[in-house]
Amino acid sequence: MTSHTKVLSSGTSVEVAPFSSVDLPAIFAIEQAASVHPWSLKNFEDSLALQHLCLGVKLAGEWVAVVVVQHKVVDAEVLILAVHPKAQRRGIARALLDVVIDKYLVAAERLFLEVRASNDPAIALYEELGFNCMGERKNYYPSGKGREDALIYGLELQL
Ligand SMILES: CC(C)(COP(=O)(O)OP(=O)(O)OC[C@H]1O[C@@H](n2cnc3c(N)ncnc32)[C@H](O)[C@@H]1OP(=O)(O)O)[C@@H](O)C(=O)NCCC(=O)NCCS
Repeated sequence: MTSHTKVLSSGTSVEVAPFSSVDLPAIFAIEQAASVHPWSLKNFEDSLALQHLCLGVKLAGEWVAVVVVQHKVVDAEVLILAVHPKAQRRGIARALLDVVIDKYLVAAERLFLEVRASNDPAIALYEELGFNCMGERKNYYPSGKGREDALIYGLELQL
C-alpha cells in the first residue's frame, strides 16, 4: 500500500501511511495517550492479522495519529481513530479521514462509525466532515458512571 502526503491548513505537510507490527509500540502509545478507553495491543495485532486498513499519520517523521478501518465490499467502518494530544486541533484527523476516503476507500459506498454520546470533539469532527447520525445503541459502552450510549454515524461516499 502506498503513502500519501497531505498539506494541513497551516502549510505543514503530513504523511498518511500504512503501519505494520514494527510500528505498534508507537501506534499503541498514541492510542493510550489519546483515548479514555484505549484499544489493547492485541486489538491492533488482530486488525493487522485480519488485514484491516491500518493507517497512521507521520508528522516530521513521527507517528502522531492512527486509524483502523474495516472494509467489507461496499460498507466500511472506522474501528478506531486517535490523534496524540500534543498534535490535536491541527487538522490531522480531518486530513487523515480525507485521505482514507479519497485514496483508500475508492470502492466503498458508505462509511460508518460508532462514537460515545459524550465525545463532543469526535462528534464535532464527524459532523464537520458530513457524517449524519443514523441511530444509537443504548448503554453500549462501559463508562466511569456505569454505561454510556453509542451514536451511529454514517457518510455516503461518492462513487
Ligand atoms: C477526536 C480526535 C480524533 C480529533 O482529532 P484532531 O486531529 O484534534 O481533529 P482536527 O484538528 O482534525 O479537527 C477537525 C475539526 O473537528 C472538530 N474538533 C476536533 N477536536 C475538537 C474539540 N476538542 N472540540 C471541538 N471541536 C473539535 C472541529 O470542528 C475541528 O475543526 P477546527 O479545529 O477547524 O475547529 C481527537 O480529539 C482524539 O484523538 N480524541 C481521542 C480519541 C477519540 O475520541 N477518537 C474518536 C473515537 S470515535
